[in-house]
Amino acid sequence: MPTGVITVAYIGATILFILALGGLSHPETSRRGNLYGMTGMMIALLATILGIVSDNYGILFGGMAIGGAIGLQLARKVQMTQMPELVAILHSLVGLAAVLVGFANFMGHDTSLTGMDKTIHDIETYLGILIGAITFSGSVIAFGKLSAKISSKPMLIPGRHWFNLGLLIAAIWLCKMFLDQSAAGSGIVPLTIMTAIALIFGIHMVMAIGGADMPVVVSMLNSYSGWAAAATGFMLNNDLLIVTGALVGSSGAILSYIMCRAMNRKFLAVIAGGFGTSGGTVTASSDQQGEVVPVNAEEVAHLLADASEVMFVPGYGMAVAQAQHTVYEITRTLRDKGVNVRFGIHPVAGRMPGHMNVLLAEAKVPYDIVFEMDEINEDFPDIDVSVVIGANDIVNPSAQEVPDSPIAGMPVLEVWKGKTTIVLKRSMATGYAGVDNPLFYKENTRMLFGDAKQSMEAVLQYLHS
Ligand code: TAP
Repeated sequence: MPTGVITVAYIGATILFILALGGLSHPETSRRGNLYGMTGMMIALLATILGIVSDNYGILFGGMAIGGAIGLQLARKVQMTQMPELVAILHSLVGLAAVLVGFANFMGHDTSLTGMDKTIHDIETYLGILIGAITFSGSVIAFGKLSAKISSKPMLIPGRHWFNLGLLIAAIWLCKMFLDQSAAGSGIVPLTIMTAIALIFGIHMVMAIGGADMPVVVSMLNSYSGWAAAATGFMLNNDLLIVTGALVGSSGAILSYIMCRAMNRKFLAVIAGGFGTSGGTVTASSDQQGEVVPVNAEEVAHLLADASEVMFVPGYGMAVAQAQHTVYEITRTLRDKGVNVRFGIHPVAGRMPGHMNVLLAEAKVPYDIVFEMDEINEDFPDIDVSVVIGANDIVNPSAQEVPDSPIAGMPVLEVWKGKTTIVLKRSMATGYAGVDNPLFYKENTRMLFGDAKQSMEAVLQYLHS
């Protein structure tokens, strides 16, 4: 394939990736964004396979067939609630690919490079493997935490900052050793030791981060996977991979910033770990808090039917129960009765960025009644009934009231300021951050215990009767 055609194909794919990111920024255009992304990736693959790869087609197509079949199977089987962990494990594969490509590239011993060019290429290889290994092991731990295979509590080893500093100094020292040895035709030993150190760093970094801060970790690993891909692009001299990696890296970095702002955390403080410690304050027992007032579906239906302003606040439990369709049915019924129904979405509700927006879009909830936390938090005093559907941490007043709470300082949806709050959940269990919730004991809170979908279906029946 002529070089000009490859360049044009790569530029086309780059434009499509940029359009994809633009499209994905709003639910209304997200399908189109996905389509742009898929088309861009198809063009990129075709141009690379037909224009750049020159031999070993058997291995290439064999690998693509196996990887494609596994990917297809996973995508078919995965439940909506497992999406965050799927994303985490996919990030780990990007990291692993960067490590493997880095080693293969180094062992290929490109003899055409000498002097400064070789040094720069060696640094690219070193960085690609370093970032790739951190992304790989960090993402595997994130997968474990998100799928509850590993406790969400932070693991804090004594002197952890010194430990991290030691690993960083060792990585810099090994880089120098690697560059010296590579110039003399070897270097695999420092490269391998650095990979082991980077793997340990990735594990330690994510293990030290507490449950409530996981959103930042997810977006940060997303960003790292992009930088790992960009470093691989430099290594392989592939412009498209550099641009694509930089797009993923920078959009992940912006997302990390948004997540930090949503949680009122400083990025460096999150990376240093320790928030959400098991030693943090668990607010209080029911004795100190007062009574929990259970309510039944019929009473909830009456409360909703008599209200003028209703706010639904969905959380992770709505995803587990798959209650979004029934919630929308209730919304339609109430709107037909003249009730003003809105949805308040916390930026870290659920287990992945935009989790609730995806579920509500799937249920065809109109976008103009779905609001971000910042847009509606001041409206709660005017709300007659707030319905908290399987949410917990994002409506926990202890974030404002208990200074040493693991979630202290995190902005939350202030549902308790409304007239009545109904909380749908199955038990008095805590949310992801493991913190008790004083909301459940407030005077104007009513608990509707049970699976959110079943509870919502029962409420809908009473609304129709
Ligand atoms: P959580 O605080 O995790 O609370 C979810 C609640 O849903 C639980 O208390 C649970 O109580 C209830 N629940 C579970 N299954 C249910 C069902 N079938 N029916 C009814 N209720 C059910 O969720 P949240 O309020 O959405 O907050 C999100 C948390 O996850 C935050 O701490 C956030 O930092 C963290 N996190 C977020 C992300 C992203 S990117 N969004 C990523 C990782 C972690 P019961 O067991 O009593 O039913």
